[in-house]
Amino acid sequence: MKHLIFRNGDKIPSLGLGTWKSEEGEAYNAVLSAIQSGFRHIDCAFIYGNQAEIGEAFKAAFDKGLVKREELFVTSKLWNSSHLKNDVKKELQKTLADLQLDYLDLYLVHWPVALTPGTSYPKGGEDFLSYEEAPLEDTWLEMEDAVNEGLIKHIGVSNFNITRLKEISGNASIQPEMNQVEMHPFLPQQKLVDYCFSENILMTAYSPLGSNDRPKRVRKENDPILMEHPVIGEIAKKHDASAAQVLIAWSIRRDIAVIPKSANPDRIKQNFAASELVLSDDDFQQINELDNSFRYIDGSLWTIEGSPFDMSDLWEY
Ligand code: A2P
Repeated sequence: MKHLIFRNGDKIPSLGLGTWKSEEGEAYNAVLSAIQSGFRHIDCAFIYGNQAEIGEAFKAAFDKGLVKREELFVTSKLWNSSHLKNDVKKELQKTLADLQLDYLDLYLVHWPVALTPGTSYPKGGEDFLSYEEAPLEDTWLEMEDAVNEGLIKHIGVSNFNITRLKEISGNASIQPEMNQVEMHPFLPQQKLVDYCFSENILMTAYSPLGSNDRPKRVRKENDPILMEHPVIGEIAKKHDASAAQVLIAWSIRRDIAVIPKSANPDRIKQNFAASELVLSDDDFQQINELDNSFRYIDGSLWTIEGSPFDMSDLWEY
């Protein structure tokens, strides 16, 4: 298994299990199966609503002696409704309690967008907090505090563009160490990757398989289906692999961590085996040519009428 290396030498496995959309009753088995299959990196978030179930799976894995805490890399994310000073630590404590852990390996600010306390998803302008009301730099100071208290080992962000990254970097005493964004062959985000790598910020690809089980609110008619792209299919056939395995191997080859979600034990096993799949230079080149700047998760939920945010707060291109 390839690992990526943080500035202090700590390591994160390149391949992790995604848990967004692992439903109630599925997440426990998904995480336990993943650990049994060899996964040592599990990606979670408060808003996924399944952290208590995942915590039970961690407890079972530790109790059964499948893995030790220090062998597991656990990420979680601060939801948009907890950006204010007193809310960051409160939500982090809830996440730790649900996951039954006393520290996280990585904690990310989930979006560069703030919502009023208690709001999961906004219904109107009144559900948002502007940057003046909830400055990202202040949220970041709280994240740093949690590192200093030993509650988290590494901090980073998700869905941040270069401008937003520079904004928090300016005042930071701990620079962001990770940026987790949507990345797959339709959206390789090379400009953002180049910037992050030049600043020693690691990257994680979410929705690496095209997130075909995404909810209606982020689904449009005629969205292309990544896993059915003929180029991916041909390369998969050549390697006697699956389309999902090719997509996972492509991310790993880019030195980007990748977190395919599955709640199915056979597919979890299959996805883990993708860490052994080596793509040729020609395969890699052909996949790179699929870039069409297509986003599955376009952030339009954060730019509804009355929102203080617009698309330029999210994406630069
Ligand atoms: P399932 O959970 O039933 O396995 P993403 O990681 O881009 O969000 O994609 C998740 C989607 O891809 C889910 O619908 C998941 O279904 C499916 N999936 C995960 N692994 C595989 C695989 N190896 N082959 C086919 N579909 C997969």
